[in-house]
Amino acid sequence: SMDKVESAKRAAAHRAVDEHVKDSYKVGVGSGSTVVFAVERLAQRAREEGLKVVCVPTSFQARQLIVNNNLEISDLEITPELDVAIDGADEADQQLTLIKGGGGCQLQEKIVAAAAKTFVVIADYRKDSTVLGEQWKKGIPIEVVPMAYCPVKLKIENELGGQAVLRQAKAKAGPVVTDNGNFILDWVFDKIHDWEKVNQQIMMIPGVVETGLFVGMASTAYFGMQDGSV
Ligand code: A5P
Repeated sequence: SMDKVESAKRAAAHRAVDEHVKDSYKVGVGSGSTVVFAVERLAQRAREEGLKVVCVPTSFQARQLIVNNNLEISDLEITPELDVAIDGADEADQQLTLIKGGGGCQLQEKIVAAAAKTFVVIADYRKDSTVLGEQWKKGIPIEVVPMAYCPVKLKIENELGGQAVLRQAKAKAGPVVTDNGNFILDWVFDKIHDWEKVNQQIMMIPGVVETGLFVGMASTAYFGMQDGSV
């Protein structure tokens, strides 16, 4: 049920914050619905134990979360190295290869994760998979410069197969525009790939800004389970 999913998200987020965030840490704050509970925990620890952290957001949503919870906010210009980044994922396989960007924030998420010494994933049981694509059926989000979306789409489909679909907005007519003013192609792949290789291949296509494939970046994943455990 939705209640179980929400408590699973909260349990994973709280555990990750408790095990990975120490006083005076610089923390990368991811995007999405699970990260809300991580920020909730940071704010709670700030109130209860006087924990002081500096937070760097990965999106407009994360920025609002940090500000609304009265946590100290920074950016990568002032704080270019982070102790830890905590973020959700749309799917994680056994090697902790991730699909991210269901919320369209993968570009800043990857930049912030790469700036952190440790990158920790928090998710509910629905995101835990053995083979990528098992849980998340909407494909790998690829952020593209708007004027390049058609040639990028063609190259991906011709070279790698599957379908690259321009993500459409829900509350307006037309495409989703990311926090950085780009479009998103959701690449629904039709076979299992070598994800590191495929990520490099996609990144080499002119017009591609970033992919939602996170290979070899996450050190730990916390999954909230249906029985309440993490
Ligand atoms: C945002 O673009 C995504 O990468 C999110 O991190 C991912 O979708 C996880 O979101 P939830 O915590 O809402 O599942």
